Amino acid sequence: MIELRSDTKSQPTPAMREAIAYAVVGDEQRREDPTVLRLERSGAELLGQEEAVFLPTATMANEIALRVLGRPGDEVIAEENSHIFIAELGGPAVHAGLMARPLPSVGGRFTAAQVRRAFRPGDSTHVSRTRIVSVENTHNASGGRIWPPSELRAVVATCRELGIDLHLDGARLLNAAVALGTPARELASPFDTVTLCLSKGLGCPLGALIAGSDERMAEARRLKHQFGGAMRQAGIVAAAGVYALEHHFDRLAEDHTRARRLGEGLLEAGLPIDLDAVETNFVQVDVGALGLTSQDALRRLAGEGVGLSATIHPNVLRAVTHLDVTDEAVEQAIELIPKALGVLVRA
Ligand SMILES: Cc1ncc(COP(=O)(O)O)c(C=O)c1O
Repeated sequence: MIELRSDTKSQPTPAMREAIAYAVVGDEQRREDPTVLRLERSGAELLGQEEAVFLPTATMANEIALRVLGRPGDEVIAEENSHIFIAELGGPAVHAGLMARPLPSVGGRFTAAQVRRAFRPGDSTHVSRTRIVSVENTHNASGGRIWPPSELRAVVATCRELGIDLHLDGARLLNAAVALGTPARELASPFDTVTLCLSKGLGCPLGALIAGSDERMAEARRLKHQFGGAMRQAGIVAAAGVYALEHHFDRLAEDHTRARRLGEGLLEAGLPIDLDAVETNFVQVDVGALGLTSQDALRRLAGEGVGLSATIHPNVLRAVTHLDVTDEAVEQAIELIPKALGVLVRA
């Protein structure tokens, strides 16, 4: 099968498996695992933050970040289809007691003016305080879209002026950094807390980092224990992260080139693709415009041996490129997807 469902589906490479096999490990809970410590140090430097904490998943990183920044009854502003609002089972309410303040967006990006309008300073009797703004970069539900640095700066400046803390769900931040040609630290350092996922484009079997100030990360480490995420010889998996940051970061550009080629090929074959929206490693296909439901389309695609996945948008599918998607697989997908969806390839 041509696996385009998600960049989480990639398999660890032989070289990554070798790094895992020979990892020097210790008791991570006691901060005695040299490989975890090394990963945390390089993650913090990469993201321009004082400290980073290794975690099993990006969901846990987001939830701990919101808990570090928020107090029960506070509001968190985020884009209406952001991962923290639509894919973490209400975690912000469960773990941090936060009220969700969803904003509509274009391509996953809200504006500084929207934040200013939505902001509530709070009062002592009735009104919740807007405590956190969470930005997702790249933005999953809009198809891996990037926040232009100028828009990011404007939102950050407004939050600072209003006294709102900032979380960055940068599960795919390195895709944004590579696509923009901007150092990751420039995109991440203005935030109070940052999530980075290691098991998406970076190709690790699992793992994520949360980064921030020493003080906030001391609290994140405490919460990591409380969430049950403090591990033992975790260097076994952190070794994959160390390897990925050294070898799989720059190569994300290949995933982006392949996604663009896929988008162009499918558009040429007559599929409704918005090429302008292909900014990183996602291609969204509006199968509704072909008179198909997502379920019909996925069944037909599976029959031709191609895996795409549904999105939050009715009858819009996505194809995601990653480490295991080769140029040949992309060319095959350009043949098979239109065939599966009943679109005639133009001669
Ligand atoms: C933007 C974003 N944040 C967080 C996550 C959560 O990652 P994990 O599945 O590792 O918890 C995802 C996963 O798809 C994501 O797309």
